[in-house]
Order: sequence, then C-alpha cells, then structure tokens
Amino acid sequence: MELPKKTLILFALGSLIITGACRKLLPLAPKDEEVLAGTIPGLTPAQEHEHLVADANFGQVFSKADGLGPIYVQTSCANCHVGNGKGHPSTTITRFANLNGGVIDYLISKGGPQLQNRSIDNYPVELLPAEANVITKRIAPAVMGLGFIAAMSDQSILDNADPNDTNGDGISGRCNYVDPTSFFIPQNIHQPNSGKYIGRFGKKAEKVTIQDQVVFALKQDIGITSDFDTDDLYNYASGIYTGDNAPDPEVSASFVNSLVFYMRTLKAPPRRNEEDADVKAGQSLFYQVGCTNCHAPTFTTDKSDIDALSYKTFHPFSDFLLHDMGSGLDDGYPEGGANSYEWRTPPLWGVGLAKDSQGGQMFLLHDGRAHSFEEAIMMHGGEAASRRDLFSALNDSQKKQVIKFLESL
Ligand code: HEC
Ligand code: HEC
Repeated sequence: MELPKKTLILFALGSLIITGACRKLLPLAPKDEEVLAGTIPGLTPAQEHEHLVADANFGQVFSKADGLGPIYVQTSCANCHVGNGKGHPSTTITRFANLNGGVIDYLISKGGPQLQNRSIDNYPVELLPAEANVITKRIAPAVMGLGFIAAMSDQSILDNADPNDTNGDGISGRCNYVDPTSFFIPQNIHQPNSGKYIGRFGKKAEKVTIQDQVVFALKQDIGITSDFDTDDLYNYASGIYTGDNAPDPEVSASFVNSLVFYMRTLKAPPRRNEEDADVKAGQSLFYQVGCTNCHAPTFTTDKSDIDALSYKTFHPFSDFLLHDMGSGLDDGYPEGGANSYEWRTPPLWGVGLAKDSQGGQMFLLHDGRAHSFEEAIMMHGGEAASRRDLFSALNDSQKKQVIKFLESL
C-alpha cells in the first residue's frame, strides 16, 4: 500500500499550495504587489495555461544545439529582462551606425545595427566596424503590462500628439512613423501615414508591435532565427558564415507567437502604498508640475482578441510619443523617424520596483546613467527642462513626496 500513501502526501502538499497556505509556511515569499510577475485578471484557464508554457519559453536558455549565435549578446530573454523587470548594466546592448552629412547607414552589410559581443566555441566575436561613428547603449526595460499598450488604438496616441506645440505648453510630442516589417499585419487600431506606421515599443518608439520586437530580439540579442527572419547572424568582418550548425529557422512561428502571448498577458505592474498621505501629495505635485504632460496617466484599450484586454483602462504614465530631451540625453543615434535627441516617454509603471531586478541599485534612463529618481529628473532637458525646473523649485519635503509617489508605481 505504498502508492496510496504517497498519493495522499502529494495531495496534501498540493492542497496546501492551492489554498495559499504555503505563503504562511514560507514567510519570506514576496507579496504579489512587490513582484513583476503574474497574469492580467480575467484570462480563461486555457489562456492561463498558455501563459505558463510561454513563461518557460521566455526563460529558455539557448545552447549551440538550439542555434544560439554564432554571435550573440545573451542566451535568454530573461537574462536581460530579469524577473520581467529592468535589466542590469552588465546586459546593456550596443547599437551602431554610420552618420554622414545627416544620412544614417545602419551598416547592415557590416553586422549592424547591433553588436554581438559573445560567440559560441572559437567563432570570432563581432567587433565594431571602422565605419561605425555613432554608438548607442540601451539598458533593458521592464516588460510588464505590454498587452495593454499593444491593445490601444493609434488614435489614443495621436490624441496627445502636438508636433507644432499648438497648445503652447512648451511640449510637442510626436509619433515615430516607421516602415512596417515584412510580416506585420495591420489591425483596426492602426492608422498608417504614407505606408508608415506609428511605433509604440522601444526606447525611440521604433517598433510597431510586440511581435516586431520579439523577432528582432531573438535574432539580434540571442542569434536565433525564426520563421519571420530566417537569415542567421555571422561575423561580417571575418566572412565566416556558419557557426551554430543548427538548421534555420531555429524556432517556429508558434514559438515566436508564444513569446508574444507571454508579453501580452503579463499583468500591469501593481501599485503599492497608494493610500499613503505622502504618496497622494506626491501624485498631486507630479500633476501640478506638469510631469503628466509626457508621463500621461490614463489610457483605455480598444477591442482585443484576448477578452481580458478589451476596453480596459490602464495607467502607464507615458504618452508613447517622442520628445526632444536636450543635448545631455542625445545619443547621436537616429532611429526610424526619431532624431538622436528624441526619446519615447518611458512608462513609469513598475519603476518603483526597478532596483529589485537591478541588483539593489537603480539604473534609470535609456542607458542606466541615473542612479536615483532625483538624478533622472534633473537629467531631463530639452522640452522637459521647464518641468524639471518646476520640480527643482519644490521644497525638500515636496521633492520627497514626488519620489515617494514614483516609488509607489
Ligand atoms: C541582451 C539583452 C536583451 C535580451 C537577451 C532580450 N532583450 Fe528585450 N530588450 C532589451 C533592450 C535593451 C530593449 C530596449 C531596446 C530599445 O528600445 O532600443 C528591449 C526591449 C524589449 C521589448 C520592448 C519593451 C517596450 O516597452 O518597448 C520587448 C517586448 C522585449 N524586449 C522582449 C524580449 C524578448 C521576448 C526577448 C527574448 C526573445 C528579449 N527581449 C531578449 C534587451 C534584451
Ligand atoms: C517632455 C516630456 C517629459 C516630461 C515633461 C517629463 N518627462 Fe520624465 N522622461 C521623459 C523621457 C523621454 C524619458 C526617457 C529619457 C531617456 O531615457 O534618456 C523620461 C524618463 C523619466 C524617468 C526615468 C524612467 C526610467 O525608466 O528610466 C523618470 C523617473 C521620470 N522621467 C520622471 C519624471 C518626472 C518626475 C517629471 C516631472 C518633474 C518628468 N519625468 C517630466 C519625458 C518627460
């Protein structure tokens, strides 16, 4: 009668987990609002299951046998997007190009646009080509709540755009219109302009869809080809074409779509201490100072094929528009229609948990150069300079309240 006893123990353990009693047994487990994991509310059991399978794909560590490289930056999505949060400077990516008389050449035939500084076996790593005269560094962003961002209409982004600052508030957000990828399928939410589409993902809003970003990441970050992009990377300087010996495409369309599904169904980052008096005061100051002119608090999604994402209100604190952020933040690297000094307002949701995935210290802004909220705010220039100065003019306790509000996001 060995078996039934074991089954009983397993059943007892299982029900402990199901009733959530394990949290009482393991007091160190973080609370839900302190982690960047979990699904959007209202998924069907089948969708919850699909999310779990996809979570494993996001964490998959690629090996040479799977087609890693031959040159690459990291071996898995989760290495950079640690716990779905912001990345550590040790995994920062480098992109390069040649800028000559205002004309940008991403040096595709020389291994651009991204540098792969690691390689399998004795295959030669990529080095910056001599022609590269503009180089940008990007730290990995958090990837929570992206399904909401993907499900809103272009119109809701355009509603905040004011390219010529006709409302005279000194802030002139505009859209990055980019060429669609070969595999892009337009939906009702999209409003093209002369064949170009509005980018809403990426630090310069250079990607239209999550799928665009995932296909790019697989290839440029991990050296993995997919049904959507079958050409493997190789070392263009040495001209050695193969290295991983895995047949292309190395992952299927369904693998890519599973990663997209994972990204779409991660919940919005949770708030903490929302009712705290200082947090509330900080929030009012954030509005008063005009941070919300770019870090726009509220959007609503359109109809989605995932019911749980249809017509939902969410609070990303971003307008998803490009802004001139001044010479201090100019990375010299134009992307799509974005100038080198322009950046997409990053969503601030989840930023209060940044240091949890960054090794206990914060690395803010596009390349992680700011180590505190105050530093990040004081580095705002260009169109944001007037709001920065208003923040700067607050008294110390008011500044602390704004920071407490950011910590609650
Ligand atoms: C080497 C580090 C690295 C790896 C590996 C990596 N990423 Fe990223 N990811 C980044 C960086 C850096 C950015 C921002 C790039 C930019 O905007 O220029 C980014 C951006 C994104 C975005 C857009 C987020 C937003 O808010 O706009 C998504 C989605 C994403 N990555 C998903 C993935 C997936 C899925 C994988 C695995 C296939 C992956 N990433 C692998 C570093 C990485
Ligand atoms: C003109 C638009 C604009 C205004 C106004 C603005 N921001 Fe930003 N903010 C941005 C952009 C764009 C970035 C990203 C810049 C970069 O990465 O180099 C940013 C980045 C940040 C970051 C870092 C986020 C991260 O994930 O690294 C914080 C924090 C922040 N802003 C807070 C504020 C606060 C507080 C105010 C008001 C005092 C404010 N911002 C006003 C556009 C704006």
